[in-house]
Order: sequence, then structure tokens, then C-alpha cells
Amino acid sequence: MHYDATERRPDTFRHDPIKALIVPRPIGWVSTLSASGELNVAPYSFFNGLSDRPVYVYYAVSGRKDSLVNVEQTGEFTCSLATDALRAEMNLTSAAVANDVDEFTLAGLETAASRFVKPPRVARSPAALECRLWKTLEMPASTDRPQDRYTVVIGQVVGVYIDDAFIRDGMVDTRSMRPIARLGYMDYAIITPETMFTMNRPTVGADGRSASNDEGPWDGSYR
Ligand SMILES: Cc1cc2nc3c(=O)[nH]c(=O)nc-3n(C[C@H](O)[C@H](O)[C@H](O)COP(=O)(O)O)c2cc1C
Repeated sequence: MHYDATERRPDTFRHDPIKALIVPRPIGWVSTLSASGELNVAPYSFFNGLSDRPVYVYYAVSGRKDSLVNVEQTGEFTCSLATDALRAEMNLTSAAVANDVDEFTLAGLETAASRFVKPPRVARSPAALECRLWKTLEMPASTDRPQDRYTVVIGQVVGVYIDDAFIRDGMVDTRSMRPIARLGYMDYAIITPETMFTMNRPTVGADGRSASNDEGPWDGSYR
């Protein structure tokens, strides 16, 4: 199989396979406030980090969802980490309910105040990024259907919350947080101690023309 992705998917596929190929995708559990103060939270898996100095993240919205309209109005958002323990709540916050419904309440979630932005984070999530909108970018659409027009929301991370229980030896204990990631179809993956592994950066030979893999525990350097 090798197909033209600008055309309709090949008949072999019952669904567009593309989201099963861009995997795993982290989930940004995005909270925003509207201009009139209505609170909103929803998961976004077209979400990722863009840079770490300064820190920028993005999420991409199909159509004109609340997480886009609100951020355009108020310029701030948070991204809480979606975890195994919060999978059911995360999913409920994706329900297409009326836009005056607060998904925090719908999913039985408590909010916790952010420090640097107005939208609160998901209190039970072990980590959250507090972000200020930099710009939105409307992507070219391939049809006239509103949901086929994506807008990328790019924000600078101005605050980072980490539950102290997940900081060990000066590092974030990702394996204990058990983050979840989106796969294709209705599938998800969990980051667990069993699915994690360490691989050091390669060591470059003295001649600068060869490289070898460095086995063993991390020596603490990024090369
Ligand atoms: C795990 C997960 C990831 C999702 N990722 C996206 C995404 O990247 N972009 C998008 O437009 N919708 C995505 N959705 C659907 C939205 O969460 C859903 O449409 C939600 O109702 C939007 O809420 P809002 O209107 O409050 O922003 C995702 C849903 C789930 C469950």
C-alpha cells in the first residue's frame, strides 16, 4: 500500500489510517476561560511541545470549538497532563455538550488555581503548563466542511506546575505519573515502567566520522 494522501483514503481502510500512524500523541488537556468567564476543558491530541527555550506548545482545533474561541478572546490556556488515573474524566470532557456546560463539573473534576494565567488547571492532574497565546494559525482546508479547517493555537508556557510527589532525585518521575497517549481509532497507550526504556545519545568517534551506542544508565548529559 502506498497512496496519495491528498485524495480520499483507499477503499481497503474502514477509517482514515493517518491517526494510527502518528503515534503516540500526547494529550493536552486544555482549559480556557471565555470573555464572560465561562470555564472550559477538553482534551487535544494534536498537541505537542515545539521548543524548550523558551517553551512553546501547540494544540490544533478542528472547526470553531470552545477551546479556540475562548483562547482568541482571552489569550490564555493551561494544559494538564492526562493520566491513567484520570482517563475516564478526560474522556468525559471531550463530550460535545452545550457551550455553557462546564466540563469540569460534568466530569466531576475539581479545579486548582493557576499562578501565572487565569484559567485553572485540573487539580488531580500531576502536572500542568500555564500558557499565554502567541498566535493562531489557520491551516489550509481541503473541503468546505467547517470541521475540516484546523486552527493551530501556539502558546508560550509561562508557568509549570508539578506535584511534588512526582519529583524524585531532581527529576520528574514520569513512570509514576502514568501519562496516557492517543493512538489511532479509539486506542490509547499508557507510559508505565514496563514500556519505558533509557537510551543514551551516541558517542561520536574522535575522527567525527563514526558513532556508537552507549549502553547503561544515563550519565546525565545531553549530547
Ligand atoms: C483524547 C482526545 C483527543 C482529542 N484531540 C482533539 C484534537 O487534537 N483536535 C480537536 O479538534 N478535537 C480533539 N478531540 C475532540 C475534542 O476534545 C472535543 O471535540 C471537545 O468537545 C472539544 O471541546 P471544546 O469545544 O470545549 O474545545 C479529542 C478528543 C479526545 C477524547
